[in-house]
Amino acid sequence: MELKKDWIKDLVIYQVYPRSFQDSNGDGIGDIPGIICRLDHLSDLGINALWLSPVYRSPNDDNGYDISGYQEIMEEFGTMEDWDQLCQECHQRGIKVIMDLVVNHSSDEHPWFIESKSSRDNEKSDYYIWRDPKNGKEPNNWASVFGGSAWEYVPERGQYYYHLFSKKQPDLNWANPKLREEIFSMMEWWVKKGVDGFRVDAISYLDKPQDFPDSPEPPQPDGYSFSACLVNGRPGTHGYIRDMNRRIFSPYNVLTVGEVAAPDTEELARYVATQREEFDMAIPFVAPVVEISTWSPKKLRQDIAADYAALKDDGWWARFFSNHDKPRQVSLYGNDQEYWEVSAKMLAMLLHFLPGTPFVYQGEEIGMTNMRFPTIEEYNDPDAKNTYRQQLLIGATPEEALHQAQMISRDNARTPMQWNGTENAGFTAGKPWLGINPNYRQINVESQKGDPHSIYHCYKALIALRKESRALSRGDLEILPVPTDTLFALKRSYQGEVLLSFHNFSAEPAEVPEALLPQSGQVLLSSYDRQGGYQGGSLRPYESVIFRL
Ligand code: GLC
Ligand code: CA
Repeated sequence: MELKKDWIKDLVIYQVYPRSFQDSNGDGIGDIPGIICRLDHLSDLGINALWLSPVYRSPNDDNGYDISGYQEIMEEFGTMEDWDQLCQECHQRGIKVIMDLVVNHSSDEHPWFIESKSSRDNEKSDYYIWRDPKNGKEPNNWASVFGGSAWEYVPERGQYYYHLFSKKQPDLNWANPKLREEIFSMMEWWVKKGVDGFRVDAISYLDKPQDFPDSPEPPQPDGYSFSACLVNGRPGTHGYIRDMNRRIFSPYNVLTVGEVAAPDTEELARYVATQREEFDMAIPFVAPVVEISTWSPKKLRQDIAADYAALKDDGWWARFFSNHDKPRQVSLYGNDQEYWEVSAKMLAMLLHFLPGTPFVYQGEEIGMTNMRFPTIEEYNDPDAKNTYRQQLLIGATPEEALHQAQMISRDNARTPMQWNGTENAGFTAGKPWLGINPNYRQINVESQKGDPHSIYHCYKALIALRKESRALSRGDLEILPVPTDTLFALKRSYQGEVLLSFHNFSAEPAEVPEALLPQSGQVLLSSYDRQGGYQGGSLRPYESVIFRL
């Protein structure tokens, strides 16, 4: 496998969701000075790249994923000087800085949109997607991702604008070359300030069919209908991404992670195959609701096999179980009760054993769990609120609707970081913007740092192992055949170095086929280290072990 940017193979990326990471001034909202004072945490873990969820100026309809000033910092998060200091301090520690780039849409409070909506013939009139009403109504039947119509009427223009996400997130019109150039020069400005990479948000939707046909899909409870094939992965979108690459990514050697909705591995490969010159790696977007209903260890293993095969000769993988859009991994895939610690370690050991660049989402390294707020009012996530509304429309009781919202809410992963066992978990001296999980007294960074058998120390060991093992950072993967769907047996090898791993994805014990048990070899890591480590033979619930052969 020949990647132009070999250095991306040595990264372990840590995602910070700034609002919930560390508050420095007692207003209950995480901020950039807070991140700076926690950089030692990242260094201690061994992290060498930081992905910052958006910190740009934003009215926060979608927590910064609605940007009203691309070259400004959100007031609540600090100043541009703070950002400069963050970037400099990261670089001093050997940590690359990856900015979230949200350019499918802006905020409706962006000056471009304010001008665009003011009349049909202003300078920016074509920066967004405007259509005339059809029979006095919306131009078509499309639903927005967060519910309701994807169109919003503006009396000043007598027209509707298109928004894939909330109505405060109007889509930018990529068909307009002037708009594209504005975006590219903005990106260039950040790169020149020292940014090493971009995680590019919701990027598979840039190109839209200009005739906006009705969606053939059955309508959702609120009457609107979403049709992914009409807006997602269109050839024009790939063209815009290649323009971005030619203009910015390649000349400046920046790392790029595209967030794409890719229905299959062929489509995923279209974004990351080296010769296509689009992204270095991609985060395939799966909405929590899909994830929760279709997930199984068997499917996960099939997906790993498929995307390994699709990209091994010409591409690379972003490896993650968690981010700010998904439930907490230990609650979703593991067991956040009896097997909390071993299952959190098992998931970490599996992920870090796979080929690709591992991502760690804040709090994952201490096994933070889902949070169920008792009322819908306590939720912040527009997605959770939409789920609640749609459930009521189909006749669910308020309790049932709340239960659905609790399951899928992105707030599960957005509750503040649990640093220690003191009031408000060490996150803030004020009132936190979103409720803190009460389990912070048991689950927090401070207690785990002092405990050599903690989840935290398992992550630290995995990250250190990846740095020293070329088999992990560059080796081939073999998925060994096993009779049980919930057992993973994997092998990584590179120039004579061979590592083997078993992962029991279940609360039941698992038999390992005799032929796979290593005759000799050293146990490097075990999810049962607290209980004396691997004992040979069958695996205990959520037991995971890595050997060097
Ligand atoms: C991406 C982000 C998500 C956001 C959406 C709209 O999926 O990860 O948090 O709501 O794009 O920008
Ligand atoms: Ca603050």
